[in-house]
Amino acid sequence: MNSVKLLIFFAFLSTICAFKITPSISDGLETDIKEFPFLISIQQSTLQLCTGVLITNKFALSSARCMSRRNIPQLVVEFGNTVINPGVRDGPNNVGISEIIFHPDFNYTTYENDICIIQLQNEINLDGFYEPFAHLSVTGSRFQSGTIGTHAGWGATLANVTNHQLHRADVTIISHSECITAVGESKQPFFQNICAMDKSVVCTGDMGAPLLINRILVGITSFRNGELCVNIPGQFPNVYTAISFYISWIESVIGERFTVNTFLSRN
Ligand SMILES: *[C@@H]1O[C@H](CO)[C@@H](O)[C@H](O)[C@H]1NC(C)=O
Ligand SMILES: *[C@@H]1O[C@H](CO)[C@@H](O)[C@H](O)[C@H]1NC(C)=O
Repeated sequence: MNSVKLLIFFAFLSTICAFKITPSISDGLETDIKEFPFLISIQQSTLQLCTGVLITNKFALSSARCMSRRNIPQLVVEFGNTVINPGVRDGPNNVGISEIIFHPDFNYTTYENDICIIQLQNEINLDGFYEPFAHLSVTGSRFQSGTIGTHAGWGATLANVTNHQLHRADVTIISHSECITAVGESKQPFFQNICAMDKSVVCTGDMGAPLLINRILVGITSFRNGELCVNIPGQFPNVYTAISFYISWIESVIGERFTVNTFLSRN
């Protein structure tokens, strides 16, 4: 499937930005969209609802939980901006959503298979950006405990604080068993989750945001138990949907849609 860029990218060569993290996407650093050009902000009116990850110029991944039960005509996507402007619908960096394709086994109660594909109304142009679409992790769903990943998004930096600036932070991957122990009472991680625990915790607006390892998309932010945006050392990891389990589903959905689009445009 050439249209979907499924590249494993051994980017050990790039020691990109060994920034020191200071205490919020809580404990994160301000960053620039040029570093994460594939990030999109999904908005409703003046609210930053969810974050998404572009995998082509027409499709993005996000959290099914975050995108479910929404009224699509009210949603708008903003791309290519470091500082977002929720409330603007028709700017040069806005595009509507034509369809949200939820994983067929997504469970709204347990958050199992918390992944969806967002189809944009129009193809967007990110020509000025280097590597504008995320490379998906096709293998290696399990990373050694201690591996450093990066997450980034427009979520709140503190509970109830509106944030429009893109932030990033490095986070430490933990094993599945460590995650089960640390995750806390309410939601449990599934085998298809990957967890990270660090100073930086995901907050409101970060659901759907990417977890990257060596610039490869390995996870989509799903949930975090515990008090909103509050970090308690050793407790309540960030839980992400591990992309590698969903490659064939993504390929089939997008492949099908590209076929349909081509067919339609020929008529
Ligand atoms: C979601 O999971 C719960 C708990 O396992 C189960 O009771 C429920 O039937 C599931 N819902 C769907 C739609 O599969
Ligand atoms: C955030 O808002 C919620 C709902 O209004 C409230 O329950 C919570 O205490 C607030 N948290 C902080 C840290 O202000």
